[in-house]
Amino acid sequence: MERRFVGARLARPDGPAKVSGHARYVADVAVPGAWLGGTVRSPVARGTLEGFDFDPDFDFTRCTLAGPADVPGANVVAMLAEDMPLLAAREVEHMGEALLLVAAPDEATLCAALAAIRPRIAPRTPLLDARESQRVFKRIEIRKGDAPAALARAELVIEGEYETASQEQMYIEPQGMVAYPPDAQGTLVVRGSMQCPYYVQKALGRALALPPERVRVVQEATGGGFGGKEDYPSVLACHAALLALRAGRPVSMLYDRHEDLVATHKRHPSRVRHRTAVDRDGRLLAMEIDVLLDGGAYTTLSPVVLSRGCIHAAGPYRCGHIRIEGRAVATNHVPYGAFRGFGAPQTCFAIERHMDRIAHELRLHPFELRRRNLLREGDTTATGQLLRESVGSQAVMERIAALTGFDRHAWRAPRAGRVRRGVGLSFFFHGAGFTGAGETLLQGKVALELEADGRALVRAASTEFGQGTETLFQAIAAEALGCEQDDVAIAQPDTHAVPNSGPTVASRTCMVVGGVLARACRELRERIGAGEFRTRARAFLAQGGDGRVELRYEPPPTLEWNEETYTGDAYPAYGWAADVAEVEVDLDTFEVRVTRLTSAVDCGTPIQPQMVTGQFEGGSLQAVGFAHLEVVTSRDGRCLQDRMATCIIPTALDAPEFRTELVPVPFSRGPFGAKGVGEMPMDGGAPAVLSAIEDALGLHMCSVPATSEKLCEAWLALHPEERL
Ligand code: MOS
Repeated sequence: MERRFVGARLARPDGPAKVSGHARYVADVAVPGAWLGGTVRSPVARGTLEGFDFDPDFDFTRCTLAGPADVPGANVVAMLAEDMPLLAAREVEHMGEALLLVAAPDEATLCAALAAIRPRIAPRTPLLDARESQRVFKRIEIRKGDAPAALARAELVIEGEYETASQEQMYIEPQGMVAYPPDAQGTLVVRGSMQCPYYVQKALGRALALPPERVRVVQEATGGGFGGKEDYPSVLACHAALLALRAGRPVSMLYDRHEDLVATHKRHPSRVRHRTAVDRDGRLLAMEIDVLLDGGAYTTLSPVVLSRGCIHAAGPYRCGHIRIEGRAVATNHVPYGAFRGFGAPQTCFAIERHMDRIAHELRLHPFELRRRNLLREGDTTATGQLLRESVGSQAVMERIAALTGFDRHAWRAPRAGRVRRGVGLSFFFHGAGFTGAGETLLQGKVALELEADGRALVRAASTEFGQGTETLFQAIAAEALGCEQDDVAIAQPDTHAVPNSGPTVASRTCMVVGGVLARACRELRERIGAGEFRTRARAFLAQGGDGRVELRYEPPPTLEWNEETYTGDAYPAYGWAADVAEVEVDLDTFEVRVTRLTSAVDCGTPIQPQMVTGQFEGGSLQAVGFAHLEVVTSRDGRCLQDRMATCIIPTALDAPEFRTELVPVPFSRGPFGAKGVGEMPMDGGAPAVLSAIEDALGLHMCSVPATSEKLCEAWLALHPEERL
């Protein structure tokens, strides 16, 4: 049957309000009588809090304070673990850690109050090098075959060590929440910028000792997230709510950019080691991979970031003997948290750089090395997952070769001139949905409801934060219901109005939540019968029909995962992609310009091809920044890039020309054959850019960001005669 909405180009329902400035972000929500909240933070990375000095010249009756003793429930921010305090009571574990909260009627009073409070902390030596940490948040081991034995008998073993630095999400809208004290029914309400209303509800319930039905969390228009609004909103919501309880009035907490950069969670820095046995033809015989993530001061989401990182660490390659060992460890850095890609960009960088190293050592073309080893349908991954269907590996590699001619490019051939051009490749995959048994345990729900005017209302907790959730849901629902786009309304994510569909993370919204939505739509369509949609919907309701359907996620029947042995079906399906980056490097300044980035992408059926392409290009630009521009460092545990003036991300001027081609290999269990695309583009850009730099300069760079300074140093080490 011909499709009218899936594969078409729909207008975004959230577009007009955002473009015209009418969209209400949390800072725009007018709250009568609200006070502003602020945070007293630790000026040191580690120490023991002994108390506070309050400036006697400031009249503290003008504001409300809240400390750990005021937390009605547990003084924790409940995420995967409960090690992170809402407010540090005694031991301080990172710079900028929240110690005390202040609410005041206006900004001037708030600033004066914050300036009048000095924490007294006996400092201790912070642990800032993950390699020295003995405190492990999570350890993961993946074994397939017998890698140590295969490596021991191998003739040729190639080793490499790769590092990635942290990265700032830099969503346009900083974090913000407004909390209202309990109403007459005893319900506390929090509204704000977030990806995951039910995560926030859970954290509030634990800290405030309230049952879920008395905690209502509402998502306002949200200006970007990229994972940065996956975990941190739980912290800010608890702070705002605690102040609202203490002050007995609404309190809004709106971070400015500086506070957001200093206090919120960024990407995990990584170090990945590879030892790989290969034969002379370049076939991968055995892989030993060691993954180390710096988790920062508290657990946050590190165990699942590590999990995704490890599962993707062997890359989209076939190998009989694999051993992957991963650790996420504690340091005294600001906790690292979720960021698009969720561990995979780190390990994908390592395996792709390592594949280039193997290619160079074997004098094989990097394209040919990858082609010989890529996973195909019927192969098994590192966790032993049998790839049954929807494996776009060959298709994307064929398409990238046809688009760019990279398979015939003389990679690393000597170049001349002061501006050197280079071309590089990366090949990658990305699991859609929660890892392992995650989706089965969560059983994400979606409700669909006929309204009196005959429209169908989608009730889901999935949030729109720029990526196009609302358009996606309208396309799926209109197609499955056989109605028009504007016959489908989308409910605002509100824990009192939508069921728990799970968080808006992990490239899961389309495949998992969209899949449940498609099923719910088909069921409703069966019920109400054929005809013009609103007419028959109203007639159905008039006859007393039940216009509400609520369904939960059902995993594919073949899906099996063993959390003990870390074996089985890590994800229901994978997206597959290849990037070719083209760069110019100026040998006088070592400035790198990425001139073009071509991608061939299989994410199954694209529900909205233009939005998929937009996701890929936006994510790839973040990856280009990660590759060579974005420096995120710290001194004594303090983030040095704490302003937009110093925290550099690519601008339009740094953006390459993008060519993104979709090569859909439909997934039978996804809605209309769709998989996921949200995180995948973040995986391939950095290794492709470094591969292109290697082609241009003959330098095998093993860490990102590959800044001009690092390139200059590496070049001069290779060409000492060029030193001034
Ligand atoms: Mo996330 S990094 O929003 O899965």
